[in-house]
Amino acid sequence: MRVERVLLKDYTTLGVGGPAELWTVETPEDLKKATEAPYRVLGNGSNLLVMDEGVEERVIRLSGVFAEWDLKGWVGAGALLPLLVQEAARQGLSGLEGLLGIPAQVGGAVKMNAGTRFGEMADALEAVEIFHGGRFQIYEPQELGFGYRKSHLPPGGIVTRVRLRLKERPQEEIRRRMAEVDAARKGQPKKKSAGCAFKNPPGQSAGRLIDQRGLKGLRVGDAMVSLEHGNFIVNLGGAKAQDILALVRAIQEELPLELEWEVWP
Ligand code: FAD
Ligand code: EPU
Repeated sequence: MRVERVLLKDYTTLGVGGPAELWTVETPEDLKKATEAPYRVLGNGSNLLVMDEGVEERVIRLSGVFAEWDLKGWVGAGALLPLLVQEAARQGLSGLEGLLGIPAQVGGAVKMNAGTRFGEMADALEAVEIFHGGRFQIYEPQELGFGYRKSHLPPGGIVTRVRLRLKERPQEEIRRRMAEVDAARKGQPKKKSAGCAFKNPPGQSAGRLIDQRGLKGLRVGDAMVSLEHGNFIVNLGGAKAQDILALVRAIQEELPLELEWEVWP
């Protein structure tokens, strides 16, 4: 186990966030020790807006045994989703194609029920192991209240590993589906972001609504509404969390949109 003071801006895809104590856990014993005081769990940091003041709680990151995986057995919550998507295609296993292009650890993808219109994480789950209250417990996906970009994990629950629901399919078929998902993502910006900032209102696209309001290019400091896709807020380099939050609020003054990101603290 490693415990160090870090700046969370180095651990989030938006590139913002202040100091925290990072606990990198590698074994169940580490996890038990790390959770003896208040904590938060960090995945790939792809859906997080961390404030410039940082966080008081321990920030736990899963590594070691928690990052090991076998597509036909248990997959550690610290494993990187993009690697699984590629490896599944290579092995002729279908079920993860719709998750192509989502930067996430498995645990973060479960918590957020990450997805695209081609499929979401919950569809690909057979079982989920969660650590809470000092012990590991296995859940069926139906028990976890999955919905559009949401889940109901037990309070303080840390996803530690999952079993995936994958079907053998011809590789060409899997690759064709992946190409379709990839094409649907072409309009998304490559600059630093945390994916879509807002949830799509039922039957609508937040990105289109923001675009139609003429808000693309709106800027606070180095935080800007992407010119490529209205639902992406990008960090042009030196954005502070405060700049990003101010931009979020400016958009919400124009449109009643619900933030998709998790905000720390
Ligand atoms: P983090 O951002 O690190 O954490 C998110 C939440 O999950 C936090 O509350 C954290 O505490 C919790 N968490 C993390 N790990 C665990 C764990 N093991 N147990 C319990 N809780 C945990 N999302 C989509 O749904 N679809 C997309 O198409 C998509 N495209 C994106 C494109 C880009 C370029 C980027 C930067 C992001 C995109 N996202 C997308 C957002 C993001 O990738 C997802 O929300 C993803 O699920 C976040 O996973 P993470 O591991 O980074 O979690
Ligand atoms: N559109 C515009 N202007 C814009 C952006 C979009 O007119 O600035 C239009 C597009 O032309 C399209 C429609 O709006 O007709 C929908 O856009 P898009 O296909 O990009 O899908 P989206 O609803 O904006 C959703 C997810 C993405 C996911 C894509 C691909 C949400 C909030 N967003 O985007 O997920 O990658 O579909 O399936 O559900 C995320 O959640 O972080 C994320 C990036």
